[in-house]
Amino acid sequence: MILSMNEVVKRYRALIALDHLTVNLQKGEALGLLGPNGAGKTTAIRVLTGLTGADAGEIRLFGKELRGKSNSIAIRQRIGLVPQDLALYETLSARDNLEYFGKLYGVYGAELKKRVDEALEILGLSDVAKKSPKKFSGGMKRRLNIGCAVIHKPELLILDEPTVGIDPQSRNHILDFVSEINKQGTTVLYTSHYMEEVERVCSRVCIMDAGRVIADGSVDDIAKSAIFEETIILEVKEPAPSLPENIKKIQGVVRCDTLNRTVTITSTAGSGNLSRIIEVASPYVILGVTAKRATLEDAFLALTGKSLRDGGEAS
Ligand SMILES: Nc1ncnc2c1ncn2[C@@H]1O[C@H](COP(=O)(O)OP(=O)(O)OP(=O)(O)O)[C@@H](O)[C@H]1O
Ligand SMILES: [Mg+2]
Repeated sequence: MILSMNEVVKRYRALIALDHLTVNLQKGEALGLLGPNGAGKTTAIRVLTGLTGADAGEIRLFGKELRGKSNSIAIRQRIGLVPQDLALYETLSARDNLEYFGKLYGVYGAELKKRVDEALEILGLSDVAKKSPKKFSGGMKRRLNIGCAVIHKPELLILDEPTVGIDPQSRNHILDFVSEINKQGTTVLYTSHYMEEVERVCSRVCIMDAGRVIADGSVDDIAKSAIFEETIILEVKEPAPSLPENIKKIQGVVRCDTLNRTVTITSTAGSGNLSRIIEVASPYVILGVTAKRATLEDAFLALTGKSLRDGGEAS
């Protein structure tokens, strides 16, 4: 177990930011912490990295109990943190920023140079290595920030909404980088508002709301457990009235409505009846098929009654 937070409470005066939060992370996993604005994602990260103390509960990192700030320094060396707010030195070049963070974590000399070159290359910043991040786009700054967080080869990489407000190209770059570093063995904790990112990068997801975990499991399991229905839309040339009647007889189908050429079929989640539906419709000319899988977004809505993007930046 790389990380365990057990019944952690964090208060800011009357506000309970973490309300008995329990989250576990196994070695090699990529866990997505998903939640709307104010859910407590950043607070959870601040508490587990020892940046701020918890009011109650137990936090263990790499098998050791984190006690306030006292033993967090040694533990922090094994963690790479990409904070929500950028932390870069604008008076230093991109290369100097990477070197600075490397030295901060005890990497020196030829090894440091090698790692800095690698980071610049992987993050697509070699051409601008000598430039100050002051002139960088948001996406470039974010990539440099990620480089600074991994220069000491941490065992656990924590990223707090690393793709907010950046261009799609940088976003793809970052998502690929995180997937790759996880494949190579780094454990990842990734917070986001965007389920498509979590679905792409993470094997497991914890959905947070109001300081607590309201669902924890694989992306598929959570999508299935919270959602009762899936929709399949068929576009059929001249459907006869018997078509919806026959479709309704298929196992799992709850509803079937026809409007002109469009046949909308609602099924129980996970019923796996798409091929049977197509078979029944095969006497007709099928112009199109759309299947809407239950997504984490649906799951979140069903669990909390809120949209994940409440107050957030739409992608
Ligand atoms: N230093 C602080 N002082 C007082 N309240 C705080 C402080 N930091 C966070 N909070 C409050 O704690 C709650 C959780 O905030 P937090 O920043 O952890 O949420 P988040 O999930 O990271 O949200 P976002 O998606 O907007 O980054 C919010 O209600 C926030 O206003
Ligand atoms: Mg936050």
